[in-house]
Amino acid sequence: MRGIEPRESAIEEAVSYARELESRLEPLDRLDPGDPFVYVSVGGGELGDLVLTAAKRSLGGRSAGIVTAAIDRYQGFPAQDSADLSAVVDMRDGDALESAISGFVRDPRSVRHAVFLEVEAVDTARVFEMATRRGYNVVSTPYGPLVGMDRLASKLLIERLGVPAVEWRYAGSLEELRAAAGELGFPIIVKPVMTSSGHGTSIVEGEGGLDAAYEHAMRHARGRGDEVIVERYLPELRTEGVELTQLVLRHFDEDGRIRTTVLAVGHSRPGAVYVESWFPSGVPAELEREGAEHAAKVANALGGLGLYAVEQFVVGGRVYTSEFANRPHDTGMVTRWALAEDEGSLHLKATMGLVVPAPRAAHPGSFCAARVVLAPDDVAPGAPVTSWSPNAAYSLIRRRGWMGDVWFFGKPTAYPGRRMGLAAACSRSLRAARARAASIASAAEGSISYGALHGEN
Ligand SMILES: Nc1ncnc2c1ncn2[C@@H]1O[C@H](COP(=O)(O)OP(=O)(O)O)[C@@H](O)[C@H]1O
Ligand SMILES: [Mg+2]
Repeated sequence: MRGIEPRESAIEEAVSYARELESRLEPLDRLDPGDPFVYVSVGGGELGDLVLTAAKRSLGGRSAGIVTAAIDRYQGFPAQDSADLSAVVDMRDGDALESAISGFVRDPRSVRHAVFLEVEAVDTARVFEMATRRGYNVVSTPYGPLVGMDRLASKLLIERLGVPAVEWRYAGSLEELRAAAGELGFPIIVKPVMTSSGHGTSIVEGEGGLDAAYEHAMRHARGRGDEVIVERYLPELRTEGVELTQLVLRHFDEDGRIRTTVLAVGHSRPGAVYVESWFPSGVPAELEREGAEHAAKVANALGGLGLYAVEQFVVGGRVYTSEFANRPHDTGMVTRWALAEDEGSLHLKATMGLVVPAPRAAHPGSFCAARVVLAPDDVAPGAPVTSWSPNAAYSLIRRRGWMGDVWFFGKPTAYPGRRMGLAAACSRSLRAARARAASIASAAEGSISYGALHGEN
């Protein structure tokens, strides 16, 4: 796929597929251990873990009629020990991935199942083919990952729906990038069409930075790197704005109708990666509602069942929709403490076709904030985690009388800045919740011990 036209037709197909899919979706009314539902998470990091553990926590697990399976690229991944079945494969290798999935779902036409893509570093084209040709149930729809991971397709869909976005251009060459910058004016932000977590992205202040930005995008893109999206860069977002992740849940209600429920999580990021998020968002209700309407339009256009995470920038009294994924979101992990039921559980039940009770705040009147627990910058890449002490965080929480917690993901090895866990705190004050979560995270960071690399002294 290259350029605008093929993406336009992919969106066209996606939207008509959604309508057709919705006419055949049916609620799930019972689980049966004799004919278990098979739930596959492609990617078994903390988000996959959150989804699959809900199958045990709330639905009774294997003996009650739901078998969980997780796939990731390394041994000891977070969801591996919580899933009933697991496989370690390179998920970008279509044959290996298909063989792992088909090992779990032997006959896609007769086994009740769902295949959920937790990450984007997957052979999505193969997964799409498995869904459309061989009948695998890829949730929310097989088009979800295809459109969501392609920035150009995402922007075109957002535009087609009349949803406000930061002004942007597509460029397929350095010359087109120059022209786009000329039209938008500086500063701009240049992003490869296919990446995540800020890889290959640069903020460009003037003409002189364009060559390097294009070079950087080409080097760090996933797949072909010569296509970029150029956006007007909003410096005020960092200083006076806030970011939202609208968690849009498409699920059956008790009357067998598909409904859309939206919850807004707030976050701020000093860089491109996730640092902290909170719920409720603290954004004025009117703006939050406006954002929710925009987010629902995006999710409803793609259709299917499950959770969509729609990212938005709120700045200067306006809401701009930026990108989306059809799965739970890292910023949404705060729902583990903020809601009575976390995003993983909501996604699991919704994608299975179960009726989902209305999500409720766990601590009405309070804010809950989550903050990442990171491996230190000077850790050797690949260094093993030799031990960790939960009590470091627990003692702090207890001494201060805070409402707080820490979630350790259980990754066996680290690299500088790797996300090892999440700390959380709830308080009536958003500022206090954020500060406490940060303190708990730092206590937890100090409590993890890393060993030397094999062969090192
Ligand atoms: N146009 C923009 N103006 C200001 N900040 C931006 C802009 N685009 C992205 N950012 C910042 O960079 C982060 C990552 O960008 P995003 O488009 O979400 O890419 P990724 O796929 O890497 O998450 C955003 O969450 C936001 O903080
Ligand atoms: Mg993003």
